[in-house]
Amino acid sequence: MSVRLNPSILSADFANFAAEFDSISNCDAIHVDVMDNHFVPNLTFGYPVVKRLQEIASRPLDLHLMIENVDEWAPKYAALGVFSVTFHHEAALDSVETAKRIREAGSRAGLAIKPGTGFDEVSGIVEHFDQLLVMTVEPGFGGQSLIEETLQKVAEARVHLDASQLRIWLQVDGGIDEGNIERIAAIGADTFVAGSAVFKAQNRKAQINALRALAEKGHSHFH
Ligand code: DX5
Ligand code: ZN
Repeated sequence: MSVRLNPSILSADFANFAAEFDSISNCDAIHVDVMDNHFVPNLTFGYPVVKRLQEIASRPLDLHLMIENVDEWAPKYAALGVFSVTFHHEAALDSVETAKRIREAGSRAGLAIKPGTGFDEVSGIVEHFDQLLVMTVEPGFGGQSLIEETLQKVAEARVHLDASQLRIWLQVDGGIDEGNIERIAAIGADTFVAGSAVFKAQNRKAQINALRALAEKGHSHFH
């Protein structure tokens, strides 16, 4: 099992996405945070902008939907041809049905849980997904500090996935940086979102390589 490093463009220059994408072209996927000012107290961009990003992106898009009415919207985003669509369990009426419709539209399906949502609330349905996203901050803003207590949930999810022989990706998002990525990989996360830790760096490509190498090192101590 390898690790993946996905920069979040929440920390990018929204007026210059083409150049920003070039600056992170060695990443595994580009994490795109869609916020609607209802599910979270922040607003980023929606369908027409994501449609355009998909047209110009040279790397796969990893969508993170922090929106309401997600049962309706998630399959529409998937139909744009993006690599993966992750939505919040807390916002969905029927997470399993929505996952099915995302997959039918051709994308990988991801299930996200906020810090206050226990893994036990989704352990019975993760088999219907390609990725589980354990939020390591409260969703809504970049540049926050990692909430240490959420890491217990990452470890718990890893134990469950391995015991159930589920080979789905385990993603973490929020406050990930060079000071903690290795130990988070060591407890079983394999897919890492990093916004400010990548975009604040002078040399973003070198930073992506450095973060990925640390994650691989942590991951090699795992099992
Ligand atoms: C927060 C977003 C994150 C955010 C992470 O709600 O889901 O993807 O961009 O930013 P950092 O890495 O700066 O915490
Ligand atoms: Zn995100």
